[in-house]
Amino acid sequence: MSKKILLSGLKPTGAPHIGNYFGAIKQWVDLINEYESYVFIADYHALNFIQNREEMSKNIVNVLLDYLALGLDPAKVTIFKQSDVSVHTELTWIFDTITTMPYLMRAHAYKDAEAKNKEIVVGTFNYPLLMASDILLYDANIVPVGQDQQQHVEIARDTAQKFNNTFGETFILPEHKIVKEVAVVPGTDGRKMSKSYGNTIPLFAEYEEIQKLIMGIVTDSSEGIPKNVYEIHKLVRSEDELKKIYEENSGKYKILKETLIEDLEKFIAPLREKRKEFEKDIPKALEILKKGGEKAKKIAEEKMKEVRKKIGVDVYEK
Ligand code: ADP
Ligand code: TRP
Repeated sequence: MSKKILLSGLKPTGAPHIGNYFGAIKQWVDLINEYESYVFIADYHALNFIQNREEMSKNIVNVLLDYLALGLDPAKVTIFKQSDVSVHTELTWIFDTITTMPYLMRAHAYKDAEAKNKEIVVGTFNYPLLMASDILLYDANIVPVGQDQQQHVEIARDTAQKFNNTFGETFILPEHKIVKEVAVVPGTDGRKMSKSYGNTIPLFAEYEEIQKLIMGIVTDSSEGIPKNVYEIHKLVRSEDELKKIYEENSGKYKILKETLIEDLEKFIAPLREKRKEFEKDIPKALEILKKGGEKAKKIAEEKMKEVRKKIGVDVYEK
């Protein structure tokens, strides 16, 4: 029996943090043997936020190095970038024509942008349909993501259903895969860890940076167990061990923070070292990305041929 298909990705908008890792990337790494896997860099999604050539190029290479350092083995997973497979945007247009504006207006990202009174670009409004194309072109069965992406995967599913109902059975209905315990990893201020809140612990942080960030965690002096420290700590150490440590050091925030710093360092140091190794040979990493793009393109273009037939624009082949 052939393996089921996994697909997921990140926008190259800045250094990934431990929320991205535990919420999403770790699931990809854990599942690559079980699924036929595709992990990509969503650079056209990032264009909504990064409109500077140097920054875009730098971020793409950085995410690629991050992926490799985190254990995405190119022998087992196809790593590619969205802009190398132009049918992603072609399919998005087709989805545009079967999706209503009120439906897309219900998307959280759109509503958040609107609530901030931002002049919303069409790319933000359309974001979920490009994401639907990313997923549906590869017949993905599962899409491992953090909680905040659940709605987007549901939109992909609805869009597949809508297309199938209109033009005949074409797309697999994908499912999101969210690990409950890490669906929303909290940041140093207790809110969801997010690049946009400035409350992150970067995955490849140097020791001094980890120290500074952990010492800066906001603690509520009324509790013996500082929640914001504990919630991050349990990502890198078992709760059995933590219970003992936190009970013995109840109220001693400095000691608890120092223990967290050491545990985070134990987790991050090997990743940092691995990343430095990959950094030494960027042309080799780029070759992996290019090859992955070529492979992804073949698969996606096959699917796109089927789509063109189904909608009736392919008048040449019978
Ligand atoms: P950010 O909010 O920092 O910009 P992204 O939107 O780039 O993060 O998210 C990339 C992936 O990481 C997505 O699958 C997202 O659901 C997941 N993710 C991001 N932040 C968290 C978090 N705090 N907890 C769990 N998963 C997260
Ligand atoms: N929207 C996702 C995020 O912000 C990134 C993404 C784009 C994605 N296309 C995707 C994730 C397809 C999974 C599948 O994190």
